[in-house]
Amino acid sequence: MKDIKAKILSNKKIDSSYYKMTLDAPYIAKTAKPGQFVQVRCSDELDPLLRRPFSIHRVKDLEILYEVIGKGTEVLSGRKPGEHIDVLGPLGNGFTLTKDKTIIVAGGIGVAPLVFLAERLAKKPIVLIGAKTKNLILCEKDFKDLGTEVHVATDDGSQGHKGFVPELLGTRDKRQGTRVYACGPNAMLKSVADICKKRKLECEVSLEETMACGIGACLGCAVIIKRQGTRDKGQGCKLACKDGPVFDAKDLVW
Ligand code: FES
Repeated sequence: MKDIKAKILSNKKIDSSYYKMTLDAPYIAKTAKPGQFVQVRCSDELDPLLRRPFSIHRVKDLEILYEVIGKGTEVLSGRKPGEHIDVLGPLGNGFTLTKDKTIIVAGGIGVAPLVFLAERLAKKPIVLIGAKTKNLILCEKDFKDLGTEVHVATDDGSQGHKGFVPELLGTRDKRQGTRVYACGPNAMLKSVADICKKRKLECEVSLEETMACGIGACLGCAVIIKRQGTRDKGQGCKLACKDGPVFDAKDLVW
């Protein structure tokens, strides 16, 4: 992990309230693993003070894909190429890479870490993307350009399956993938975890938690987990930033 001043190479609105920022940060780009994240200081001013966490989207140059949802990301969307920005990373634990057949399930902006994952998997995954409506489907072309099979679900049926993306997972034949990777809203992750449990599929989820420090210091990103040991059965806590953000779905209390 390094704390660096990275030069902004581009910062483009890609659709609706989604932006993609490309940064000159070779150390982070070279050492990052899929599922890890960076903490970015969005402004040089004191407000907003806290850094914001962003999944690492791609690493040719360091890319983050983000949604403008508050003051930090609004400030970030106004930053210009050529400016420098504080970036801390890579942080956290990423996905477990496998040589098995895999299925990726992405919901909304949760797609952000999954393109990098698809690039690094030994076999091309099947990709299932969900969004509220057609215009909010993210990264479909990026996945297709990687040669993956992509299926889409929209809540309003404007593209692909009408309904929620976990429903697409439920219709997959088990031979199409024995490990599932997912990132998106918690309700979606819970549905994916339930389906995987029923069908005995391995499942890793990346949690979208609010993170203040990103390094295990503030204890503000606690996640409730099941204790697996024989002596201390029950529940415990882990930190999304340090122990995650990727967790085995069966370890979490949903
Ligand atoms: Fe501070 Fe996780 S964000 S401990």
